[in-house]
Amino acid sequence: MDDQSGAGSSHLWIEPGHDIAQFRAAVVAGLARADKALPCKYFYDEIGSRLFEQICTLAEYYPTRTELAILDDRAEDIAAAVAGTVSVIEFGSGAGHKVRRILDHLAGVQAYLPVDISREALLAAAARLDDDYPRLAVMPVWADFTKPFALPDGLPPGPRLGFFPGSTIGNFSPAEASEFLAASRAVLGAGGHFLVGVDLVKDARVLEAAYDDALGVTARFNLNLLARINRELHGGFDLGRFRHVARYDRADQCVRMWLESLVEQTVRIGETAFRFRRGERIHTENSYKYTIENFQVVAAQAGWHPTACWTDPARLFSIHLLG
Ligand code: TRP
Repeated sequence: MDDQSGAGSSHLWIEPGHDIAQFRAAVVAGLARADKALPCKYFYDEIGSRLFEQICTLAEYYPTRTELAILDDRAEDIAAAVAGTVSVIEFGSGAGHKVRRILDHLAGVQAYLPVDISREALLAAAARLDDDYPRLAVMPVWADFTKPFALPDGLPPGPRLGFFPGSTIGNFSPAEASEFLAASRAVLGAGGHFLVGVDLVKDARVLEAAYDDALGVTARFNLNLLARINRELHGGFDLGRFRHVARYDRADQCVRMWLESLVEQTVRIGETAFRFRRGERIHTENSYKYTIENFQVVAAQAGWHPTACWTDPARLFSIHLLG
């Protein structure tokens, strides 16, 4: 571990979350496909993480503020249901704002483990939490939570609460979501709970606006993937020759996002050249939406039992507690 500086001695992180050779291999493989695609986890470099924080404040992007309001309204209920929790493990912790709503109401939590792929966001958030919660052991884990990862030594024994907000679960297909939920059940162990934020099915116009805002922040976030390939892999993408596209697929209950080539062009990444037809798209993200019942079915397939589910009055968003 060469990176123990910068965030205090109680911090450790394991499993390097970003490997440049892996990034190159994933990009080359994704762009060589007939149906071009790039893995969404690469959105979150330092610039991408900052753009995502901006998305969370947009008028059109209702999930963040709605989920925060549910957490605030239901904090006492959540705390009562997960009383006895010793460690909180957050999958994809980002800037670490949401977990405070839970930590503020949970007596007896000894350790908080934020898991994130963005090293910069992870360390900054962990340092702030460490300052604000002096009795809590903050143990950041720099890892890709979609793959198995080791938990740090020294985790206090006792019941664990998993926290997976932001409808990040919707970025998996339902089959992948069920697999992830099953794997997390093993990580959270006997007596564990899982608190999962899940965006609900709704009007297509509301959904498409949430993923294609008027200020163009979401477009910049999507296009940053190409900018990151330029920066890290010596790519030759001209960002002015691609556009962000977001469409709701009603049959699959999923918002799909792409980067569309505006012209016929060839783009080089290092030694390799990729041809794009005019109108050809690179698929970059899915955001599946659920009804409460549909999500409970997926969770049950993974062995979880629904303990509770809370929504906002307009039923835009849901928070499920699984046990
Ligand atoms: N988990 C978020 C969601 O599905 C991620 C997200 C929000 C996102 N806006 C985005 C991903 C735009 C890619 C592009 O709502």
